[in-house]
Amino acid sequence: MIGIYDSGIGGLGIFKKIRGILPYESITYFADSAHFPFGDRDKDEIRSITLTALQKLEQTCDVIIIACNTASVNDIDYYRNNITAPIIAVVPVIKTAAHVTDTNHIALLATTSTNSASYTDNLIQQFANTVTVEKISCSGLADAVEYDDVNKQRLLLEDALKNLGDIDVIVLGCTHYTLIKGLIQNIAGPEVKILDSNTAVARHALRIMHETNVEQPQNTPEYIFLSSNTDDASYRERITAILQTL
Ligand code: DGL
Repeated sequence: MIGIYDSGIGGLGIFKKIRGILPYESITYFADSAHFPFGDRDKDEIRSITLTALQKLEQTCDVIIIACNTASVNDIDYYRNNITAPIIAVVPVIKTAAHVTDTNHIALLATTSTNSASYTDNLIQQFANTVTVEKISCSGLADAVEYDDVNKQRLLLEDALKNLGDIDVIVLGCTHYTLIKGLIQNIAGPEVKILDSNTAVARHALRIMHETNVEQPQNTPEYIFLSSNTDDASYRERITAILQTL
């Protein structure tokens, strides 16, 4: 059983990729919606919420994917030290962005917490030290995606992306943003490349599953959707609808 964790619906893009690449594996998707959003919380709070959720997932899952940049960058080592199951974490694809930029000017669109994490600064220093990286925090955008407020998504993005200048690559540093990639592309313009981590995470998961020998192919894999708020039924309905559009 693979476990996928996010604060809400953001990790569904990763769920879809994992289901495509490992079609015989069962998956539990856990949306920690009672604690949503993570993006404006402080580091200690995020670490504690996430660890509690991972401990729950660990009871039934052989490998866990943290499909949330905000949780991952705050921080992966802490979770790995406290959880026995292999953990795959989604982090912004800064390295790829630094390779594909022509203007040497890129943007990281992420939550406030991800943009202020030292892990993120280390990524930039290690993989993009010859490139100028603008960190654009878009407080409220994950909420607008979670609650399907399309007007708010547009307003926040128009404001956040209004001064792109010669930026030619935008890294989506929040999995919620990957669900509205089309809108982001529209607002940024066709010449800007929009990168997310979803495919890279799915490939990494495949490798880890092989290496750690935890694959358990099922003829009829089971997909379990859990949320930490009380209204599981309507949340599941929403998830099913979103998966049809991805
Ligand atoms: N989906 C989460 C991420 O990738 C953040 C959403 C939130 O603020 O809870 O960072």
